[in-house]
Amino acid sequence: MKAALLQHLVDQASAPYRPAGPWAWHFARGKLKGDPLFAALLEPGLLPETGRYLDLGCGQGLLASWLLAAAGTPPQGPAADLAHPLPRMLAYHGVDMQAHSVAHASQALAGSPLPLQLEVDDMCTAPLPPADVVTLFDVLHYVPPAAQEMLLRRIRASLPHDGRLLLRVGDAAAGLPHHLSRLVDSLVVLGHGGGWPRLHCRSAASWCALLRELGFATGIRPMPGAGFANTLILARPTRTPLS
Ligand SMILES: C[S@@+](CC[C@H](N)C(=O)[O-])C[C@H]1O[C@@H](n2cnc3c(N)ncnc32)[C@H](O)[C@@H]1O
Repeated sequence: MKAALLQHLVDQASAPYRPAGPWAWHFARGKLKGDPLFAALLEPGLLPETGRYLDLGCGQGLLASWLLAAAGTPPQGPAADLAHPLPRMLAYHGVDMQAHSVAHASQALAGSPLPLQLEVDDMCTAPLPPADVVTLFDVLHYVPPAAQEMLLRRIRASLPHDGRLLLRVGDAAAGLPHHLSRLVDSLVVLGHGGGWPRLHCRSAASWCALLRELGFATGIRPMPGAGFANTLILARPTRTPLS
């Protein structure tokens, strides 16, 4: 994707965080610009052309702001040479257990023309509203293994047959880069006032094996420039009934 388009999206998607204060704004700019996840999401084949999103562990709602910026980008200008349409979000539901992150998300996304809901809740017990795309970005390792499995099972049951689950997880088999990545995650949680978290990690291979066991077909998606052994997994329901 062209640098000019990415810069445009970073500017557009981070601007709504300005009123939430310098930390929220700088964090949004840094994350949207520096984390290759966001550019990767706009590559063809990962997200549907249109869809309802459920973002579990949404933090300050950067995914929603990013997709709103993408949808609001005119076809001329920085997106002029793009060979594929940018994904269009129809509705967004974000859940996070940290009230002040949700407050920043609510403030930043308040002007959105789309149906948008943000909730302070524990994703492990929160009801899962209907969605075409469920995202778990850098969050699943905060909950213990049994709760991870139960949540994935509930997501599988709630997704339509053509739905998608996108996970960004650390690859615990990756050694030092993985440890560095988890250190950054812990510092972010600490910086947001959440205390020092206990993490429950798995290798990318064992995440995929678990997802297959729960009735998903999985694929690891390339995320160029991703340091720190972060892995993006696209999981889609298989037709095989759940055991
Ligand atoms: C590293 S941040 C990622 C935020 C967001 N997904 C993103 O990519 O910008 C992890 C988030 O998960 C949230 N979280 C951790 N455990 C959670 C749980 N059980 N239920 C809801 N949110 C949770 C934290 O509060 C934090 O905002």
